[in-house]
Amino acid sequence: MKHVLDERKTLLVDGPASVCLLSGEVSVLGATLEIEENLIVREGKRLPLWVKQRATVELMLGEGACINEVDEGDVPSLWNEAATQLLSLDKPVTVMVIGKVDSGKTSFCTFLVNTAVMQNLKTAVVDADLGQSDVGPPSTVGFAFVEKTVKDLFELDAQCAVFVGSTSPSGAMSKVIDGLSCLKNRVLDAGADFLVINTDGWVEGEEASTYKLRLLEMVGCSAVVAMHQGNELTPILDSLHNVKVLDVDSPQLIEPRNREKRKLLRELSYKKYMKGAKTQSFSFSWVKVRDSLLGAGGPLHRKRLETLSNMLRTRPIYSEESVDGILAVLKRSETVTEKQLKDVEDYFRKRVKVIYEGDEAGLLVGLEDEENNFLGIGVLREVDYKRKAMKIYTPVSKKVSTLCFGQIKLNKNFKETGLSTVYSVNL
Ligand SMILES: Nc1ncnc2c1ncn2[C@@H]1O[C@H](COP(=O)(O)OP(=O)(O)OP(=O)(O)O)[C@@H](O)[C@H]1O
Ligand SMILES: [Mg+2]
Repeated sequence: MKHVLDERKTLLVDGPASVCLLSGEVSVLGATLEIEENLIVREGKRLPLWVKQRATVELMLGEGACINEVDEGDVPSLWNEAATQLLSLDKPVTVMVIGKVDSGKTSFCTFLVNTAVMQNLKTAVVDADLGQSDVGPPSTVGFAFVEKTVKDLFELDAQCAVFVGSTSPSGAMSKVIDGLSCLKNRVLDAGADFLVINTDGWVEGEEASTYKLRLLEMVGCSAVVAMHQGNELTPILDSLHNVKVLDVDSPQLIEPRNREKRKLLRELSYKKYMKGAKTQSFSFSWVKVRDSLLGAGGPLHRKRLETLSNMLRTRPIYSEESVDGILAVLKRSETVTEKQLKDVEDYFRKRVKVIYEGDEAGLLVGLEDEENNFLGIGVLREVDYKRKAMKIYTPVSKKVSTLCFGQIKLNKNFKETGLSTVYSVNL
């Protein structure tokens, strides 16, 4: 349908929708929409279209989509002031944006990145929001240089990323901190003038504050942008010293996303990064496996395997022993009682993890080259324990040296079906 927009108004578009500009002048978070350009608004996302000059757009609204024309500007006025201040700092500038879930962090990052690009600064963005990352697949920290303005950070392809394997930072804090520090250094070494870091929305409570403070301290930045809704950031900001803090408001018309919408957005992102995937086989002996009981050790000595089999009353189809523990893979039809397991652990005096054939199906995997550069993601389809080979569905075509198992399980349509610690070192 055609829609006429009056000058100096904002059209809020809730996806799934597409907008094509037919005439007039419109911008999205600082990026100009070109005539005949097709803007896609994903389901679960809202984009504000600022009408600079009376415009006509062709709108296609999907199921559940809607539009709302408002008299306000597209972004809070403090966003402009913050951007001006940040751009005037000595280069290189590193800005970290913090705020709770649905506070407008990603929209502000997009706006800030666009403002920097328009000033011809060598601009980059690192997305450290594992659950709602727009740069890089879900469960990674990804970065991209931004060559031209963008309406949605999702348009950017990650140039590099660090695989974490979880959509929440709470169990993976050190991995995020190390990954983010490493990417920040790479971006600055590559000559970035202006780096914007987006973070996750976990800010409330003592554990979250401690994590954010550690992140800020370890990564180091020129300024912090605090996206306030109430006083939820006070415990973090009160403990922050020697760093410039800019307070900005959340947009007023926020449409919170529920868990399902968040999952759906991740699903779109898995699809983007799995494009062109095919099933490939990796032999246990060709690749290393990081942070996992699988591939960490060697076969059990014959006598130890006999004892293990007797105590479990079944012979594992695969077993492995390392300093961290013993991994025993059983046929699906077998069962082991807690008592048996405890006896086995007491006997071997180490942790014993019993898993069942097929438990691994759907596990998200990160693939790396021999220099530990992230190559892409994949989904573990199955492990052939007899042939000692793994079948992984992945678009990665370069030589893979290391596999990192995540905790997320995906079905064939890339829907998240649950969490699994099947190969985790933490038994
Ligand atoms: N300038 C704006 N005008 C109106 N609404 C906006 C604007 N910016 C953001 N929003 C609304 O706020 C929602 C959240 O914005 P955004 O995705 O930027 O927040 P976030 O803090 O990154 O969220 P998350 O924690 O999910 O990553 C958007 O879907 C949209 O509904
Ligand atoms: Mg976000």
